[in-house]
Amino acid sequence: QDILVLHGPNLNMLGRREPQYYGADTLASIDTRLAQRAGAAGLRCHSFQSNSEAALIERVHAAFDDGTGFVIINPAAFTHTSVALRDALAAVKLPFIEVHLSNVHAREPFRHHSFFSDLAQGVICGLGAAGYGYALDHAIDFLNRQTP
Ligand code: DQA
Repeated sequence: QDILVLHGPNLNMLGRREPQYYGADTLASIDTRLAQRAGAAGLRCHSFQSNSEAALIERVHAAFDDGTGFVIINPAAFTHTSVALRDALAAVKLPFIEVHLSNVHAREPFRHHSFFSDLAQGVICGLGAAGYGYALDHAIDFLNRQTP
């Protein structure tokens, strides 16, 4: 079973976007590291970024029967707004971790609420790009426990 990494809006700007919050790594470099780390564990990790809520929802629907066993998602601003993307994850019933580069709880109050956290297996925030790596380590452990 594969791991799907979903990145929401504006994350294509990583490396150039508010580095004080989001760091200097580009999305491509993060995705490459994740794919290598998954590959070393004998698993495949696919990444998808979109600025469009509809495209993210459709990618989640496709994950229902494309061999995806675990989702790592940074919904970005849709974290705080999208009932529709939440419902898509609930519909496919895939286990997922919510990741944020920044510590959303230390920022504006509108970033404190997430439509995803109560459905997530776990939430990682404030650890920068490393947070994706920790989420991947969990996904690898989880999938290995499923199919020993
Ligand atoms: C973010 C936090 C969100 O509040 C923000 O809208 C983002 C990125 C993060 O990774 O820290 O775009 O999800």
